[in-house]
Amino acid sequence: MDVTLSNPGSTAVADTRALLVLQDEPPVARTAAPLDVAVPPLVRALLASGDFAGRALETAILHPAAGRVRRVLLVGIGPRDSLTSQRVRQVAATLARRATDLGARRVVVELPDARVLNPAIAAQAFAEGAVMGSHRFDRYRAARKTAEPRIEIVPPSRDLAPAVRAAIALGLVVGRAVCLARDLANTPGQDLPPRELAATATRIGRASGARVRVLGVRDMERLGMGAVLGVGRGSVEPPCFIVLERDPTAGGRRRPGGRTAKGAANSAGKRGAVPTVVLIGKGVTFDTGGISLKPREGMGRMKYDMSGAAAVLGVFAALPALELPFRVVGLVPSAENMPSDRAFKPGDVLRAMDGTTIEVTNTDAEGRLLLADALCYAQRYQPEVIVDLATLTGSIRVALGTLAAGLFTTDDPLAAELAAASAATGDRLWRMPLWDDYADSLKSDVADVVNSAGGDGGASIAASFLARFAGDTRWAHIDMASTAWAFTDRPHEPRGPTGFGVRLLLEWLVRRSGR
Ligand code: BES
Ligand code: MN
Ligand code: ZN
Repeated sequence: MDVTLSNPGSTAVADTRALLVLQDEPPVARTAAPLDVAVPPLVRALLASGDFAGRALETAILHPAAGRVRRVLLVGIGPRDSLTSQRVRQVAATLARRATDLGARRVVVELPDARVLNPAIAAQAFAEGAVMGSHRFDRYRAARKTAEPRIEIVPPSRDLAPAVRAAIALGLVVGRAVCLARDLANTPGQDLPPRELAATATRIGRASGARVRVLGVRDMERLGMGAVLGVGRGSVEPPCFIVLERDPTAGGRRRPGGRTAKGAANSAGKRGAVPTVVLIGKGVTFDTGGISLKPREGMGRMKYDMSGAAAVLGVFAALPALELPFRVVGLVPSAENMPSDRAFKPGDVLRAMDGTTIEVTNTDAEGRLLLADALCYAQRYQPEVIVDLATLTGSIRVALGTLAAGLFTTDDPLAAELAAASAATGDRLWRMPLWDDYADSLKSDVADVVNSAGGDGGASIAASFLARFAGDTRWAHIDMASTAWAFTDRPHEPRGPTGFGVRLLLEWLVRRSGR
């Protein structure tokens, strides 16, 4: 889906004119782009008929008998006082899909009233929504996507054109990053084992100006990452640990003759030189549960158990558009959780990178094991803050349904930062408790800790397991097992992997940069 700023001649050549209609408000009173004289009376008649009132996501089509424009596509945006950027995303998604179904080629649309919603915010949200709503995963389909229209946005005034143009460009980058994350999560385990995830991460990271290093089994053995190694042991596909480091000075282009892969890992040794944010994404490329095998029902969906990793990679794909003044490090511990003769077993004791011993009581609680080593590894950057994203527990969905991810942190200012980014993006977070007491159930008779205790409150118990590895570093954990998959079609989130977290993290990073 392509979205651009309109140029003065756009209205003359467009086959479709889209009108965003506030509920019960006449849409044609004030237009920045000329409207055929035939249109306003038709719109007035439509509204008077009561067949269309501009309720949110309601649509109608008119065909003026005379004039240049072939069709007018009306999309309701609901009442003025409930118009948010999230509504604009939904509206844009609805518009884009409708226009595609109609076979439209060029669509001209005006943003909602600038007095209701800032035009730059609206333009970015519109571009995001149009891209997200029209995305589909077609890697395994014989018939690829049909032609899509180009949507041209008319700025409210000439002086706002540059700001709107920039906002559209950013919205496209962000929307495409979300779709990239969806495609990765949708890719079956067969085609995205850890080594393929690493190859993809390397491509994405390098293209974004990051240094990328993939630690293999030998490297992890040397570092003592017994938790990742334990989880990965049952699969013929070896586990790995992916490191992406992007400095504020990184250009969009790659410098040939730059640092070698080895140098990349060493750069972490330069303590505290550059302020660093670490993003960790759970990268289980398929979760069978291991020896503690999952039931057959819905197991195929567990190809998306690397949605946290996908979100982090989506973020990196978009980073060049943000120009952040700090270093961003992405860590992706990756493994395929399989039962086999060599798989880790209940009762086994694993040793994490910081020496903590973990009695495995359930091999299906594998995500927290990967994250444990990643949190240990993150310490070498002395980061200002760590955020991890993971499809960690089924219990978070029991708590929140599919509408919000769980936010776990004891750091109130950090929670507030993330909540603000959540509100701006519509990637919903809901704060969950992380009291020390949750860790009480994780005591082991033979090791420092068990990986799973069973019992209720599983999402908070899992978070309290992680807290021990985060130490004193500012840290938040996002359990996105609730939001990473949409079970029903939503306007800008078609059924399947949602790409949750990409926009949330990007918005959070931008806000951290003080812009
Ligand atoms: N990947 C799952 C979590 C999950 C479950 C994601 C359902 C999406 C939908 C995770 O590895 C897991 O299996 N968690 C267990 C933990 C339990 C064994 C303590 C769970 O939630 O059942
Ligand atoms: Mn599991
Ligand atoms: Zn899992």
